[in-house]
Amino acid sequence: MTRGNRRSNSASGAVERVIDMLVSSPDVGIMIPIPQYPLYTATLARVNAHAVPYYLQEDKDWQLSVSDLEHSLAEARAKGTDVRALVVINPGNPTGGCLLESNIAEIVRFCERHRLVIMADEVYQTNIYTETNPFVSFKKVVAQLGSDVELFSFHSISKGMIGECGRRGGYYEAVNIDEKVMGQLLKLASVSLCPNVQGQMAVDIMVNPPRLGDASYEQYKAEVEDIFESMKRRAKKLAQAFNSLPNMSCNDAQGAMYCFPRVELPQAFIDEAKAKGQQPDSLYCMQMLEATGISVVPGSGFGQYPGTFHFRSTFLPPENLFDDFIDSFKRFHLGLLARYSPKI
Ligand SMILES: Cc1ncc(COP(=O)(O)O)c(C=O)c1O
Repeated sequence: MTRGNRRSNSASGAVERVIDMLVSSPDVGIMIPIPQYPLYTATLARVNAHAVPYYLQEDKDWQLSVSDLEHSLAEARAKGTDVRALVVINPGNPTGGCLLESNIAEIVRFCERHRLVIMADEVYQTNIYTETNPFVSFKKVVAQLGSDVELFSFHSISKGMIGECGRRGGYYEAVNIDEKVMGQLLKLASVSLCPNVQGQMAVDIMVNPPRLGDASYEQYKAEVEDIFESMKRRAKKLAQAFNSLPNMSCNDAQGAMYCFPRVELPQAFIDEAKAKGQQPDSLYCMQMLEATGISVVPGSGFGQYPGTFHFRSTFLPPENLFDDFIDSFKRFHLGLLARYSPKI
């Protein structure tokens, strides 16, 4: 068994490589959260494997329910799917949720019981805005529990305060993975020679930031703190704005870069969307774009609990434009409600 980390061109590249290796026939399935970042459904479709969905619990700040995991695993295995792994995105995209350590421990035990490989997507690990839900890595919990569960965890230079998504750099950690499997992964990686140099320099800088006494330390610290504090303020402000509106509710973004509010769309609007052959949340987002210039992603792009409608908004617009951004969104939402449910 081995522990170690391997470099990659990005978290996406590493995720794809691990999925390529796990999927050996069309019977294979991998459990994925709903809502999820579409890298997972897209990669599983490309390799012709099953996406086995489990739902995140919106009313519990997007934590995972082990009974839901048990249910969806049993259902997939009963249908003959060879379920081999479970994907967890923590902190979550698109939800902004951050898993409690106790929930992570339950997930590790669930995967141990059912011999599932854990794929922990932890690219937002430094984007954490609450004290109640600090980031805890799967690797740490696996070690604390003395578990022999197989784990791949993924990190990237694309997020955090660095945000160097154009340079393409990342790495994955492998815990309790058989040497032969690691050898196979190395062989696959060697086919494309090596990850790009610029991206890997950025990985080095991310994992080895300037330290006290280094020439660039003060500037680095000031810039990181500035970006972080601003994102924290914007995260809070956006969730508050959504929650101040009728027909909307939104969990606080505990982490990542997103709010994922739920919208109660008027029935007349839903009917109109259906008559146009469109998803109601897509129509809502398209109308928002046309009315305000704000671009958000409909919940149906990530998957959502049937009968519910959401959209994902980043809180990345610059802080000096943020109030205008919120005001114009509010005008759009209230205007739509007034048109389709005039009693509000
Ligand atoms: C959850 C999640 N995983 C992976 C990625 C992709 O990361 P990278 O740019 O390193 O491929 C993203 C990008 O948005 C993401 O949100």
